[in-house]
Amino acid sequence: MVLAHSAKSFSEFSEEESETSPLEKERFDGRPTCVEIDLERLAKNFRAIRDGTGPSSKILAVVKANAYGHGAIPVAKTLCGEGAHSLGVATVEEGIELRCAGIELPILVLGGFHSLQIPLLVESDLTPVLFDLQTTEDLYQFARKAGKKIAVHVKVDTGMGRLGILPDQAESFFQTLKKMGHFLTFEGLLSHFASADGKEITYTQSQIEVFQKTLQQAQQMGLDPIPHIANSAAILKKLPCLDSMVRPGILLYGYAPSSHLEGVLPVEPILSWKTRVLSIREVPVGFSVSYGESFVTRRRTRLAVLPVGYADGYPRLLSNRGEVLVRGRRAPVVGRVCMDLTMVDLTEIPESQTGDEVILIGKQGQERLTADDMARWSDTISYEVLCGIGRRVPRRYRGALRNHPYDI
Ligand SMILES: Cc1ncc(COP(=O)(O)O)c(C=O)c1O
Repeated sequence: MVLAHSAKSFSEFSEEESETSPLEKERFDGRPTCVEIDLERLAKNFRAIRDGTGPSSKILAVVKANAYGHGAIPVAKTLCGEGAHSLGVATVEEGIELRCAGIELPILVLGGFHSLQIPLLVESDLTPVLFDLQTTEDLYQFARKAGKKIAVHVKVDTGMGRLGILPDQAESFFQTLKKMGHFLTFEGLLSHFASADGKEITYTQSQIEVFQKTLQQAQQMGLDPIPHIANSAAILKKLPCLDSMVRPGILLYGYAPSSHLEGVLPVEPILSWKTRVLSIREVPVGFSVSYGESFVTRRRTRLAVLPVGYADGYPRLLSNRGEVLVRGRRAPVVGRVCMDLTMVDLTEIPESQTGDEVILIGKQGQERLTADDMARWSDTISYEVLCGIGRRVPRRYRGALRNHPYDI
């Protein structure tokens, strides 16, 4: 029963198409702490990116890390319906999750794989991104024994200092790959920017130059991989980086990778994070709130408890720093954020009541809080805030998937 439910969880959360029995709906609506994801808005973001990059750019939509916390399957299905060329995941398991959901687009495993995962990777028809000689040889041996031809992409490390073939070893790597051509098809060449989101572009330009040189080396050997290096920042900056394919991530979800790039394309956040006031008490002056006595009231205080904590991904660094929205107004987080509960001061919102909707990310009245706000208060980036929203926070989807072959 539970298994059947989780397999269909996306459609069951869809407000318009729910076939859930009242009892099941009750159970899922039961947790007031939830996120709502607008798939219609996701589709609009995708179209804004496509309009920004031009029709000749293929879009490899980055849906790794559970689509940056938004739910990989509904997000991937929406993007398939909008015409994404392929999808990017970090791990073999993330790719398998999408295959099990019936997604047929090419899926690149961007985050590397271990040789022991090769059988799973190949059986699931995932596209490996090669990053060193040993795993490449292991993949080749597997393909040869299985008598299968496998499309591969090669990652070259142009300056990210992470995964990839070093540029001075690229030529000999390509030669090896060419010899493996009966079983490995060199389909794509990629790299990743280290600081394309910054204002200074010298380092990024040097990465582009190295990438172009490496591509030329491959081409001079008669190889013809699709080059792709552009992430959201590069798309927004319209960097000249061989845009036959682009790889947006955060932009799909409605955020710019840094504040100076906001507003370049008309994208909007697609996720709201909500909860409801669990309890309100009037407490006296000198009342200590939460672990460690880090907040002690200086006035008579309307102290509210919210059923959300760091186990839900609400950052502990928001202790005494964060804000939430109640009745269209901002209220400060007071005391330490706990594993499951967070306290806010509602003294300035005297009409607030138990059960009131509380916005952690999203709009309420004229006010709005974003993952960028939360990131600023907790010394991180929107990416980490979004990816960090915990598994126990139910995802609910607006904007049903219609008229495309991936409808559930
Ligand atoms: C290899 C690779 N490509 C593309 C992206 C997408 O980046 P962004 O979300 O900044 O667009 C990422 C994200 O980290 C990545 O690791």
